[in-house]
Amino acid sequence: MSLAEFPDIAKNVAFANGNTHPELGKRVAALLGIELSPVKFARFADTETYVRHEESVRGKLLVAFQTHAPVDGNSTADSFYQHLQMIDAGARGGAAKVMAVAPCMAGSRQDRQVLPREAVSADLNLDLLRSAGATHFVTVDIHDTHTLTSFRKPGVYDHLTAQPALRAKLAELMIGDQDDYIMIAPDEGHSKILRAQAELLGVELKDMVKTRDKHREVVSHVGRVGDVEGKTCFIMDDMISTGGTVASAAEKLHESGAKRIYVAATHPWFSGSAAERLADAPIEQIIVTDTLPIRDEVQERLGNKLQIVSSAELIADGLKQILIGGSVSGLYEGQGGNYS
Ligand code: R5P
Repeated sequence: MSLAEFPDIAKNVAFANGNTHPELGKRVAALLGIELSPVKFARFADTETYVRHEESVRGKLLVAFQTHAPVDGNSTADSFYQHLQMIDAGARGGAAKVMAVAPCMAGSRQDRQVLPREAVSADLNLDLLRSAGATHFVTVDIHDTHTLTSFRKPGVYDHLTAQPALRAKLAELMIGDQDDYIMIAPDEGHSKILRAQAELLGVELKDMVKTRDKHREVVSHVGRVGDVEGKTCFIMDDMISTGGTVASAAEKLHESGAKRIYVAATHPWFSGSAAERLADAPIEQIIVTDTLPIRDEVQERLGNKLQIVSSAELIADGLKQILIGGSVSGLYEGQGGNYS
């Protein structure tokens, strides 16, 4: 995934690493073989944020790398705003193009109007990134890929996926008869996305019926889940936030006689007391990527139950294809696709 064979391209890239997950940005830049271009982040006394590229980016293709994580007193919105500032500073500094890379994108959950007068944050945020000066946007496992395909403003939108990497980890757990394993979509919406992954593992796919209470906070799974007696269940989802979805699905599967339950998800938000809930849930292992930093207390609470798969390789692979004018979808051929 290194750009070593493409020195003319590599020397024209300035890789600006954000402040929310610097380890991930560093690993991606190292895999590509690109030096980091220094960025200064500061905060005024009134909490306003300050961003400056400390070296010239004039004429460069600026990669502005920032995952929209809540860290160090930053809310998700603060992290997103600092991303906008990185892009704006690059565009004002004469960057020829600005590629905004957000391994996990803020606002992607509110991606449509369900009720009148709701905001559509995903569309708003894409619009803001473009207005700030991003000519290209790259993310990983956005909540709904429709968000990117329906966005019609000028710019290029590329979608990377961690599903093949997560599936490979699940495949390592399989011993013996494929009929002993079932893939579980914890809500109907996710079932379509998982079909290809279940087929590639050679296992049946079942979806569960998820409901939320009237405040849209407490999740429960209702109805029959079908025959899972004695089976090993793989629950796959795009994110774990409060942990309510996967914990509730696991509890229902456990009550229904499942033998072992594993969870795999791309974005490890682990909001609030998610780790507490998941530590007590009937789950053998929770496999997540590192598109977001994982707090120490979450890692301590979950211990060996938590397995982290690096997302740096898949991001570097995707960025390399984009930078050399190659094919992103080609990376996922026979892997379930990146818009599945
Ligand atoms: C829902 O549509 C998503 O795919 C996730 O299942 C959900 O957002 C996870 O959130 P939580 O962990 O809070 O249940």
